[in-house]
Parts: sequence; structure tokens; C-alpha cells
Amino acid sequence: MPLPDRFIEDLTMRNRIEEVASSYVNLRQRGRNFVGLCPFHGEKTPSFTIYPENNSFYCFGCGAGGDIITFVKKIEHLDYLDAVRFLADRAGLEMPRLEIDDTVSKLRRRCLEANREAARFYYELLYSPAGKEGLDYYHSRGYTDRTIKHFGLGFAPNGFHALLDHLRKKGFHDEELLSAGLCRRSQKGHLYDFFRYRVIVPIIDVRGNVIAFGGRVLDDSKPKYLNTGDTPVFKKTNNLFALNFAKEGERTLILCEGYMDVIAMHQAGFTNTVAALGTSFTEDHARLMARYADDVFLLFDSDAAGQQGLARAVDKLRTTGLRTRVVRIPDGKDADEYLRKHPPGDLKLLIERSPGDVEYQLSAIRARHTLTTTDGKFAYIQEAVKLIATLSNPIEQDLYAGRLAQETDVSKSVILQQLDSMKRRRKKRAEREVLPQELKKERQETQRINPEALQYPEAAAAEEALIGLLLMHPDYIEAAARELPAEDMLTSLNRKIYALLIERKQAGLLVELSLLAVSFEDDQMAYITRIWNKAGTLGGSEDDMQRYIRVIREQGSLSKINLNGDGSDDDMRRAMEALRKIKT
Ligand code: GTP
Ligand code: MN
Repeated sequence: MPLPDRFIEDLTMRNRIEEVASSYVNLRQRGRNFVGLCPFHGEKTPSFTIYPENNSFYCFGCGAGGDIITFVKKIEHLDYLDAVRFLADRAGLEMPRLEIDDTVSKLRRRCLEANREAARFYYELLYSPAGKEGLDYYHSRGYTDRTIKHFGLGFAPNGFHALLDHLRKKGFHDEELLSAGLCRRSQKGHLYDFFRYRVIVPIIDVRGNVIAFGGRVLDDSKPKYLNTGDTPVFKKTNNLFALNFAKEGERTLILCEGYMDVIAMHQAGFTNTVAALGTSFTEDHARLMARYADDVFLLFDSDAAGQQGLARAVDKLRTTGLRTRVVRIPDGKDADEYLRKHPPGDLKLLIERSPGDVEYQLSAIRARHTLTTTDGKFAYIQEAVKLIATLSNPIEQDLYAGRLAQETDVSKSVILQQLDSMKRRRKKRAEREVLPQELKKERQETQRINPEALQYPEAAAAEEALIGLLLMHPDYIEAAARELPAEDMLTSLNRKIYALLIERKQAGLLVELSLLAVSFEDDQMAYITRIWNKAGTLGGSEDDMQRYIRVIREQGSLSKINLNGDGSDDDMRRAMEALRKIKT
């Protein structure tokens, strides 16, 4: 056991999941539990549930779940130990001394230290004679020294080992520099600097760690931008440039395409601007934004690539429930170029007058159809009504219906009729789908995490019920163990969980979710959490326990008959007999 139980108990006691989660998710009380929109997948109706009773969470939409440590691991993208550290910090607990091998954590820490040192190196070089070209470049883009300092901008000189030599001198090992993505290894086996002859932009996360770098060429050579690839401390789909500054604002964010735009925006006073890093906008980005904002303004290039990126971002942001508006920059410019020719006030007006995402999408639909033909008009109305039907606000729906009527010269009442029937159809479909969907999902999840459940469906269901019951009533564990030894469980995951419960109980240790987190994968923790919380809805008496055990035993003998039998009538009869008993 790497960390003492006492410490983990203390940690979970002092970090209540409803409090920790509420800084990422808007929670609403529902009975004894809380629900909210899942931070791990896009959804519009809450299936993310918090169970204060055992300090756990589970999402019925995507199957994410587990204890408080698993929650922090997933939401902050940390490994187990760093998640524990995070919670210890939060609760003001001191971490116990660790004797275990902590290589992953250590490598992450060394990567961050190397990055910090590299950022300092690049920044200081900028203001030395060797950095003149870089500094001139920034000045030519209109960046002030104050801006350069604020963002810690730097310069990587021409040559292959300036940073390498510096960091080696500071005591960093080759493996650390390779892991951090600061150096590469040549075919001959020599290390060389990844960023050469580029201006350098450090990427800093919301906790102030330097997690990666972007580098731009000084001229027109290719590739124009180079960014750190994925490393132990950086995943490009999970981070937004300048979020460390932007998150301080009033729950409004502006999203631009590139970090150079973001820097120009901040310099002009729009300090709530962020950008994805050298990748297209993902659902992860959208969820990250939803943590810090309710409103998002999209400020993308007006070129074809920019518009494509824009459509994608609108799409991803819609699933998170953020209010999204689209700012159009006139004459094919990006934010940076616009600000070079216009005062910030002009951009502010463009932002204030920007249409909502629905309007933007409607005009995109309109552009695809020829409104001068009857067919074109009809197709436009169909598609537009479909979009309007997805809006949750009836006033908004009415307004858009009115606009659509005007645009197409079709009476508003006809459009409203269309809208009504579309809404009814959607509602019916949703109702039809909700319950079976959830059950189907649950079965799929179980089969993915515990594949043997497919082979022994009835036994697996009884095993789950039994484990859930024992998690709720650990005082039953010893009685259960006497009647059903661990090896008699048919599916291996359940066997492992059950064996661990027995082992802990016999050793006089507590049975608590967070104490299991070290022994199981995230998926398995989600599974355990689900069956624990489901146990509350099933029978939880000793009689129920006996019933579950009986089913598992009978299924066990049944499986032996099937495996060893010769297929004679006798076998068949016994199998039928066993089946009948289980059902009663
Ligand atoms: P500047 O010319 O410095 O103003 O850059 P820009 O941000 O205006 O870039 P551009 O309009 O050429 O491209 C839009 C976005 O695409 C950039 O902000 C980058 O995020 C991305 N991009 C462009 N070129 C490259 C490249 O060579 N590599 C990578 N990874 N991304 C690029
Ligand atoms: Mn640009």
C-alpha cells in the first residue's frame, strides 16, 4: 500500500466531492444526491450524479465514475499521486513521506522544471545581443516590452544546442529533455534543440506551470508554427493558451485562432482571450471553457480555413450549453491584423454587435440554398426549423420563426406549425430513448469493463448486486465469505473486487471507495461506483444477500455442467432444474 489508509481516509473526509466538483460543474440537489452537466462529455440534460453518501460520482451518459481521487485525476488530467497531492493541498494536509517508486510523478515534475528553466533561457536571450532579431520581430508586430514580459516571450537562437547545453549545465538529464519535448535525438544518437531560430511563446496552464512552447519562424519559411507535441505534462487538446490570465475575468471568454492573435488581443485590453494550440477545437476545449465562462465570443479569421474552424467550434460549444456569439471581422483579417489598423474601440463594437451562434448557423444554412426557387426555399425552411427546434428558449424560438417567415414570405403560423410538429417528434424520440438507452448503456459499460459478464449474464448480475450490498454493509462481508469463497465468483473482475473486500475486512481495514482507487483502473473504479450506488435501489437485507449467493452458486454449477457434461438428456435435465431454481 503506497499511502497509509489513515491518510486517505483523512483526505476523503476533508475533501467532500460535492464541494470539489462544484468548482467545475453547476450542481443541483436531487434527493440526497446532486446532478449536473457532465464535465467529461457533452450533454444538455444532466446525467452526471454526485453521491455525497460515499463521496463518489457517476455519469450515466458516458460511464465516467469513481471516488474523489478518480474525479480529480480525470478533471485535472493528473496521475494518481498528483491527484492525491492536489487534494492534500486543497485540504491543507501534509503528504506523508513516500517510500514507493514515484517515477511518473517525478518525471512530470522534472519536465515542468526543465520547461520553466527553458522559458527563462529563451526570455533572457531575447534581451541579449544574440536575441536582437527576435526582439526586432516582436517590435515589428507591435508588441510592447510590457507585453513581452507579461507573456514571457522569448527567442531560440540559430544552432543546435544552445538550450541543450544550458539545461545540461543546470543538471537536467537527456531523458528528461527528450520527455519534455525540448530536445530530439538525431539518427546518430546526438541530442539537439527542438526549437531553433524561432520566436518562442511559452504555454502556461491555469496553475502557472510552463507546460509547453510554441515557436514561429521570423520570415516566410515553413512550417510557420512549431509546437511542443504531447508530453507527460502537456496534451494539446486539453489546454488553451492564455487561460491562466483569461480565467480571471467575468465568465466571458473570447476564442481566437492563434496565440499571436491572443497576445495582440491582450495588449489591446481584451484580456479574456484564449486560443487552442496548433490543433482544431475539440470537445475537451469546449468543456474547459465552460468551467470558466458562460458566454463565449468567437473571433476567427475570415478565410476559408478560419470559417471551417469556426463552424467546428460553434458545433463543439453548443453541446456544452455555453452561450456563443460569432464576431465577423471585415475584409479577410484576423484579430491581430485588425487591431494593427483599428483602435480597440472598433473591435469592441464588433464584439458587442455580434450575432448569436444560432443566427450564424441560420445564415450558414441560408447560404447553402437558393431562396429564389420554391424547392430551395422549402429545403431552407426544413433545415432552419430543425435547428430552431433544438433551442430551449420558447421566446427565442418564436423570434426566429418570425424572422424565417419574413425571409421566405411564408406565413408565420405555417412555420410555427412545422416547428411544433418537429418539437413533438423530438420529444417523442427522446422519451422513447431515455430509459432503454440508459439500460443499454449500462449493459455495454459492464461488458466492456467486465467482458465475462457476457458469458455469465445472470451470475454477473448477482455478483454485482452482492458486491454492491457488501459495499453498503461491510459488516456482512464475513458472513458472505463463509458461504461463498472468492474463487466461486464466475467473472474475474468481480472475483478480484470481492476478494479484496474480504481481505480488507479480515485484516480489520476499512472498506471505502478511495481506499480501493489504488488497486483498480479508472474504468473499474467507475464500475465499482456504479454498482455501489445502484445497491441502494436493490434489496439490501441479509435475505437478499442469501439470494444473490444462491444464484451465483447455482450459475457456477450450471456452468460446470455445461462445460463438463456430455450433452446427455441427464445433463440437460439438471441444467433445466438449476435454471428453474434460480428463477424462483
Ligand atoms: P501570423 O502569420 O503569425 O499572424 O499567424 P496567424 O495566426 O495569422 O496564422 P495563419 O492565419 O497562417 O494560420 C491560422 C492558425 O493556424 C495559426 O494561428 C495556427 O494556430 C495554425 N497554423 C498555421 N500555420 C501552422 C503551422 O505551420 N503549424 C501548425 N501547427 N499550426 C499552424
Ligand atoms: Mn495573423
